[in-house]
Amino acid sequence: MSFLKKHSAIEKNATLLLIGSLFVVTIGGIVEIAPLFWLQNTIEKVDGMRPYSPLELAGRDIYVREGCYLCHSQMIRPFRDEVERYGHYSLAAESMYDHSFQWGSKRTGPDLARVGGRYSNEWHVQHLIEPRKIVPESVMPSYSFLKDTPLKVTDLTANLKANIAVGVPYTQEMLDNAEADLIAQATPDADTDDLLARYPKAKTGDFDGNPSQITEMDALVAYLQMLGTLVDFSTYDQSPKAR
Ligand code: HEC
Repeated sequence: MSFLKKHSAIEKNATLLLIGSLFVVTIGGIVEIAPLFWLQNTIEKVDGMRPYSPLELAGRDIYVREGCYLCHSQMIRPFRDEVERYGHYSLAAESMYDHSFQWGSKRTGPDLARVGGRYSNEWHVQHLIEPRKIVPESVMPSYSFLKDTPLKVTDLTANLKANIAVGVPYTQEMLDNAEADLIAQATPDADTDDLLARYPKAKTGDFDGNPSQITEMDALVAYLQMLGTLVDFSTYDQSPKAR
């Protein structure tokens, strides 16, 4: 009874009510936020995830620059229809080195989270040059200029360093070899042993059908071809988990 009386006193006094509310919200806030200062990582580690190779990173930057995300998401939700169409649903760890992430919810075109390896390089190049040659009813714009635009790599080290600043684990060795790795990945018959040791599963060779120069098309296709290919899902449970 006396508790109810005290409580009605709080309810009738705006200042007391405000202080009381703040007190309760603070407790709730601390419970949610405090553990984050002690947890090393809130994302479950997954085998196979690695930072983007320099060429893939350059391709990713072109993807962002051209606004591909305006029509394409990169997040497969854990629903049966999505998993059957696109493949294993996306894991948080798969975008842990993505700054900024490309999840999105706008799908004018299909989700691209697992497009890597689904088509040949040639298919991608022809599709990016003129989507309607491949899919007559496509509304995707033509990006043919990428094939004629040499890839500029002047700020590559700065780019990797910026990623290090936000937590991507590029090593000093990766920084020192960034430009050589970029060139090796897009050059047919180059010695790619070191590159593949640093960036396992990286796709190598000529991507745009023109081995004489490295173009923005090379970088973008290298990026598309690695999407969703790093984690070996044969070791994971394939059944879609509807939540
Ligand atoms: C205006 C919206 C739009 C934009 C912008 C756009 N696309 Fe598309 N994209 C589509 C549509 C629609 C399709 C499906 C028809 C087709 O294959 O062309 C598609 C299909 C694709 C496919 C084939 C996917 C599959 O699984 O079959 C790829 C790869 C792709 N786009 C990459 C890109 C890239 C890379 C960019 C940026 C350079 C981009 N798109 C920009 C609309 C868009």
